[in-house]
Amino acid sequence: MCGIVGYVGQQKAASIIVEALRRLEYRGYDSAGVAVLQDGGIAFAKKAGRVEVMAKVAAQRHFTGTTGIGHTRWATHGGVTDANAHPHISSDGKFALIHNGVIENYSQIKKFLLTKGYTFLSETDTEVLCNLVAYHYAKEIADNNGHNRLLESVRKALRHVEGTYGIAVLCVDFPGEMVAARKASPLILGVGDGEYLLASDASALISRTRNVVYLKDGELVHVTTANFSIITLDQADVSPVVDRITWSIADAELNGYGTFMEKEIFEQPQALENTMRGRFAEDGSTAQFGGLNLSAAEFRQVDRLAFCACGTAWHACLVAEHLIERFARLPVEVDYASEFRYRNSPLDRRTLFFVMSQSGETIDTLGALREAKRTGYRVLAINNVVGSSIAREADGGIYQHVGPEIGVASTKAFTSQLLLGAMVALYLGRLRDMSFNDGVQYVEALKGVPDLVRQILKGAPHIQAVAKRYAKATDFLFLGRLSLFPIALEGALKLKEISYIHAEGYPAAEIKHGPIALITDKCPSVFLVPKGEIFNKIVSSMQEIKARKGPVIAIATEGSELPPGLADEVIRIPDCHEAVLPIVASIPVQLLSYYIALERGCDVDKPRNLAKSVTVE
Ligand code: G6P
Repeated sequence: MCGIVGYVGQQKAASIIVEALRRLEYRGYDSAGVAVLQDGGIAFAKKAGRVEVMAKVAAQRHFTGTTGIGHTRWATHGGVTDANAHPHISSDGKFALIHNGVIENYSQIKKFLLTKGYTFLSETDTEVLCNLVAYHYAKEIADNNGHNRLLESVRKALRHVEGTYGIAVLCVDFPGEMVAARKASPLILGVGDGEYLLASDASALISRTRNVVYLKDGELVHVTTANFSIITLDQADVSPVVDRITWSIADAELNGYGTFMEKEIFEQPQALENTMRGRFAEDGSTAQFGGLNLSAAEFRQVDRLAFCACGTAWHACLVAEHLIERFARLPVEVDYASEFRYRNSPLDRRTLFFVMSQSGETIDTLGALREAKRTGYRVLAINNVVGSSIAREADGGIYQHVGPEIGVASTKAFTSQLLLGAMVALYLGRLRDMSFNDGVQYVEALKGVPDLVRQILKGAPHIQAVAKRYAKATDFLFLGRLSLFPIALEGALKLKEISYIHAEGYPAAEIKHGPIALITDKCPSVFLVPKGEIFNKIVSSMQEIKARKGPVIAIATEGSELPPGLADEVIRIPDCHEAVLPIVASIPVQLLSYYIALERGCDVDKPRNLAKSVTVE
């Protein structure tokens, strides 16, 4: 969703903020803005469009202030206009505020503020909050209770707010100070050398410091040029914990690639190695995880698993379901996090609950975690971003360790989630009836995945040539069965996300119940074709498409003999263990979507209307 940046220090704030916004742009990119405190007032620039559009305006204004805030927007309230872009300025001209989230009761507050003479230039909930802070500030002067008035007015305003927020606030009466607060929207304070930075995620501040404080829900931070302090909404003091970010600035840069998506696809062998590192038992027959906070005996008590996630991570859960049921013989249920929250689903006492989320900030997944915890379940998280809300609130979990993922369409985080799902299936299987030998074979197969992925990546030029031939299609079907059905769903999602081609994923045998009606010579079908017991069934489905003149693209394992002339295009993947097949099949699907989008001239890293981390319901 939106990206937030703040700076308090000795340098000119605007250029530091604009640079940080460029790094945060993947969070939201319909408008951007920056505000600094200078000459006793607020100087600002905000524009609809990409950060670069706003940066040009900001450069012409020669901002000199050393305290500032900035924002990239993903619209929730109000259209994409200059006026709706953040920062918002209170109508008395004293406050500038940026916000990520949704203020649900903004219309009641707005009515109240109108009666008090406050005026509004935008349609946003954020401007309402900004004026509410101004209102409390005016009252606070009158109350004169000895607290820091800036902090107190923000705190009091937030006590009247329903909804979610990550905010940062500046006030003309407090040069060199900033107040920020969060509820369900991520905020990190970077503790630099004589300066403080605030950001929605670490990629924005890592070029200046690796020392960070992860703010928690209900906390406010008051930053000055000399120090910072944290309190809760109820005014309790909080002792800050300063963590160190383990990855480096190079991990968040393109390093010669044309796009982040391309970089992230091609760094998957290394990412998968990092996900596995240190996670196999010494006897080589099972997986081990450090942070689950659950003993083997406790795992033995589990007789059902539930998984919740959104988007691509939900597809990874579907693969985990397949593998856990197949190898650990435990029933698994997978829900969209947004549905689970409101579905009142009956969960058995011995159900183990998992959430999966690359960012660890997706509000629906966080909501599902909280709902499950509220009803007494232990919740484990599979998550990439260290220190994220989900990582902190889960009872235990497994970090993906794939480094920052910047491309909006998830790639390396997805295959790493597939890998961890396969490892959880192995771990649970070995606690139940999987033999030592089967475990050893499984482990060997997992260890071999990075090389299999390398091998497929070498075939990228062939996939690019295929992509060029089909880039003008307006509809696509992706078809797979069993553990490759979720990969078909993922293929369709990837393609529509980044190329805007309508695409659907289906279990291959289901085409005759509807999707086959779409088939013409302009609607290609991508079949995922593994060797084995269902090979002939998939070939029959391909025949049904071919008989209706639909182009067929087969992603088939080596050694599977397709009837001559059946597939118009064949992309080969190595024959492999069932547990790693979904990972291996994902790579050509990613490359196909990527090259089609490139061919169509789409901005693959920032597809229209999408955001990387969805922190509103
Ligand atoms: C957004 C992103 C997707 C991602 C989904 C869930 O829709 O564009 O790429 O799969 O959110 O994100 P999470 O961070 O929870 O995995």
